Amino acid sequence: MTVILREGADLRKLVRGWKAAGNIVGLVPTMGALHDGHLSLARAAKAECERVIVTIFVNPRQFNNPDDLKKYPRTEAADAGLLATVGVDVIFAPTADEVYPAGFATTVSVAGVAEPLEGVLRPGHFDGVATVVTKLFGMTLADRAYFGQKDWQQLRVVNRLVRDLNLPVWIVGCETVREADGVAMSSRNARLGGAARRIAPALFAAMTRAGGAIRSGADPTTALADCRAEVLASGFDSVEYIELRDAATLEAAEGLNRPLRLLAAVWLAGVRLIDNIAV
Ligand code: PAJ
Repeated sequence: MTVILREGADLRKLVRGWKAAGNIVGLVPTMGALHDGHLSLARAAKAECERVIVTIFVNPRQFNNPDDLKKYPRTEAADAGLLATVGVDVIFAPTADEVYPAGFATTVSVAGVAEPLEGVLRPGHFDGVATVVTKLFGMTLADRAYFGQKDWQQLRVVNRLVRDLNLPVWIVGCETVREADGVAMSSRNARLGGAARRIAPALFAAMTRAGGAIRSGADPTTALADCRAEVLASGFDSVEYIELRDAATLEAAEGLNRPLRLLAAVWLAGVRLIDNIAV
């Protein structure tokens, strides 16, 4: 079984020993309810680092919807079992008081890349992410940290933050892991009932078609409108956005001669799903 630590001081002591021995330390921040997407990050960290820490912390500050926070699945024992199979050295699962002790008064706020899309629809979300990620880097002293492309905007926000604050950690972005039918793995998928789960693959299918059409020269506005119509016709309840953006800055994609990203947020059976692909 992988050891579980709850206090920053204990983790710090352990990591200082690793560092004194010259070990490269990898970090995989998560909120638990682990699936193969998370495990792929842990495996990538294992392949590149001598020591690997996975953090499990359902960060209250990044939930703009209290109901979403309440419903967030908590499956620590199962998570620990999965991480043991990957050979993770330590799980750091602090309490909210350990991370945000009384008197906590600092917020890390990234402008620019954190502002559009999720920034508009989930006010305060990226402040919560940037604050906790900065803290996790400080608490773990990690040399390398692994994030999923599944949360593309989050990955770009973390990259910006690390550059802007000169944080001594190297960010690795790992490919989105999908189910066989194309659905991006997500802890929230567990909340989809059978009928909704059968509708879910239509999102990635429609996005893949739109991306292909744009790459072969179709007018992006038309391709995006078709994509939205297809998603709604498939049975999704609503579309928050399906947008083509500059892959790095998430600004509006004006020219088509630079890396672009097609990003979507949709609702299905009361569950908010996000996905993105390279175009
Ligand atoms: P969480 O949603 O638990 O995701 C943890 C990490 O797993 C993130 O970097 C996310 O992008 C990655 N991930 C999730 N699903 C994936 C998939 N299908 N394929 C590849 N990677 C996937 O993202 C968070 O937690 C939090 O915001 C956190 C960074 C931990 C800060 O609280």
